[in-house]
Amino acid sequence: MTVTQTRPLSATEAIESRRSIRKFVQEPLDQSDLREILRLASLAPSAWNAQTWRFAVVQNPEVKVRLQEAAYGQKQITNAPAVIVVYSDMEDTLQNVEDTAHPGMGDAGRTGQRQTFDRVFGGQDVAQRGQWGLSQANIAFGFLMVAARGLGYDTVPMLGFDPAKVREVLGLPEHVQFAGLLPLGKRAEEGFPHHRHSVERITKFY
Ligand SMILES: Cc1cc2nc3c(=O)[nH]c(=O)nc-3n(C[C@H](O)[C@H](O)[C@H](O)COP(=O)(O)O)c2cc1C
Repeated sequence: MTVTQTRPLSATEAIESRRSIRKFVQEPLDQSDLREILRLASLAPSAWNAQTWRFAVVQNPEVKVRLQEAAYGQKQITNAPAVIVVYSDMEDTLQNVEDTAHPGMGDAGRTGQRQTFDRVFGGQDVAQRGQWGLSQANIAFGFLMVAARGLGYDTVPMLGFDPAKVREVLGLPEHVQFAGLLPLGKRAEEGFPHHRHSVERITKFY
């Protein structure tokens, strides 16, 4: 089934209608839609606006085959017209942290941002601060799924892969951490209805 999307869904509609899709319509992705989905995901918030997330978009069939091998053969990788790999690069973030200061804050903002990050993360090792970076990237991963659905696309979030192999396939440095792989396209199956805890089961009200 091809979904014909004439307007962006509301946030509520996008969240309600998102479900994991592992079979996609076999057609190339509209590249301007892809750009818009990435732009919307990049609007996710992060602590101190650090924006630790990075995206690797895989559309090349040979690279998808190698990614599928790294994901224990999971077929949705080659079935999707594109796979977005969401990872965090905390070392790149730290090296260029002045860029994340709001321009309205001027030079003082850039200096303050540098001082904050040096103070907080200077004493941490790469793995420790990498974990912090990943917790920010996970937010963008969530935004990406909702943004895609809002524009009529479907996804399946994936953590079932060997990170070392994905780093090797994409030529990424050792320190990057993965929020997940996200096959993306138009749904060619319905997926499963939601099965979730009730609000009462997962919430304490004070
Ligand atoms: C972090 C994360 C990792 C996941 N990894 C995989 C995966 O490797 N392979 C897969 O087929 N589904 C994977 N899933 C999909 C879940 O099975 C699915 O989201 C869950 O069963 C709820 O179904 P729904 O997404 O249709 O609402 C993953 C989901 C999340 C959020």
